[in-house]
Formats: sequence, structure tokens, C-alpha cells
Amino acid sequence: STVPMIAIDGPTASGKGTIAARVAARLGWHLLDSGALYRLTALACLEQGIAAGDEQGAAAAAAALDVRFVADGVFMGGRDVSADIRREEVGNMASQVAVLAPVRAALLDRQRAFRCPPGLVADGRDMGTVVFPDADLKIFLVASAEARAQRRYKQLIEKGFSANLLTLLRDLEARDARDTQRANAPLAAAHDALVLDSSHLTIDQTVEQVMSWWGERS
Ligand code: C5P
Repeated sequence: STVPMIAIDGPTASGKGTIAARVAARLGWHLLDSGALYRLTALACLEQGIAAGDEQGAAAAAAALDVRFVADGVFMGGRDVSADIRREEVGNMASQVAVLAPVRAALLDRQRAFRCPPGLVADGRDMGTVVFPDADLKIFLVASAEARAQRRYKQLIEKGFSANLLTLLRDLEARDARDTQRANAPLAAAHDALVLDSSHLTIDQTVEQVMSWWGERS
């Protein structure tokens, strides 16, 4: 594709979503939160009673997703599910359906369709490796497990949810393990990705680093 794009991959709670949204806004580009598609698939499975082990059922649910992304919200079948897909239970289910090859295949074209002019910023686990291997700039955003658990904890508390730091840390490590050890499109830095460690950076500093790398490329 000749449409410019930036791929941002990294482990759960590394800040990819926030950074991708800021960079997209700065450039005036489209945004793809690919994790939302796996979360939507998970939510559909949970609601339809499809088990995480039911490959064909989960793939069918992924293919049948009726989603619309608007400004800050996500709609599924006309219903605002923005809050539902952020639940921990849905995130855990998402990382289980994400190991299934037929699910990943069902979501491939849907993701690539987001690449339209003037450009795209996409965040996930396999943006630079599988979905957009020809991305113009690939970033692998990392942060220590402790820093990520702290951020997630703060986020949940601010939204009025209850949270336990140790439980979050354990869930995060379990999800990291599942994402990096799976056979299909495991979480990994593309060979041509730039690694950015945000453990000790603010959101603004992280965005500036991405913008500066983009400036050097274009
Ligand atoms: O990034 P987020 O936490 O919203 O993603 C939810 C789950 O979806 C992840 O734990 C991961 O297993 C899966 N995922 C994926 N590939 C992507 C994006 C997300 O496998 N590109």
C-alpha cells in the first residue's frame, strides 16, 4: 500500500492505545485499535455462550462482528459496548480467542481496510509483523510489568472500579506469557522495529519520541 502508516506493537498495558491515539490525532490520520476487535470477538463469544476452545464458533463470531468505531466509542450491533470491552474478564477471554488461527484470519481484512488516506496508526501485537509488514515506521513499545500494573491500577481506580495491584500484575504476566508463547502471530518485535521503553517516560515524552522518529523517516 502507498498509504503511509505507523505500527505500534507491545505487551498489554504498555500504553500503546494512548500513544497511538495521540500520534494519530497529531498527524490527522485514522486509528486502528486492533485489540478492540479481539475484545469485541471475546464479548460476542461470552454473550453467545461460545467457549474459548470452540475454534469454529469463535471464528464465526469474529467474521460476523457488526462493529462501528465512532470518535471515542465502539458500537456492536448498534449498542455502545465501549465500557464492556474494557472489562478484565473480556480482556482475558480476548487473549484466549486470539490464540486461534481461524479467529486471526477472520479479522485480517477488516484490519487492513483501516489503511486509507491520509494515513493510519495501528496498535496491537502483530501490526508490524503480520497485518502490516510494510508499515513505514514500526515501534515496539515496552514497559516493565510493574510500571504497566501500576498504570492499569490507576486507570481502573480513576474509572471507579475496584482493583488489586498484585492480581493485576499476575493477570498481566499471564497474558504476556500467552501472547508471546502462542504459535499464531505471537507478540514479538518486528526485525525492523524500533524499541521504545516507556517505563520512565511520560505520555508526552513517548509521543514526542514517536513523532521525532516519524520526522526522520519522512
Ligand atoms: O491490546 P488489548 O489488551 O486491548 O488486546 C486484548 C487481547 O487481544 C490481547 O491480550 C491479545 O491477546 C489480543 N490481541 C492480539 N493481536 C492484536 C491485538 C490484540 O492477539 N493485534
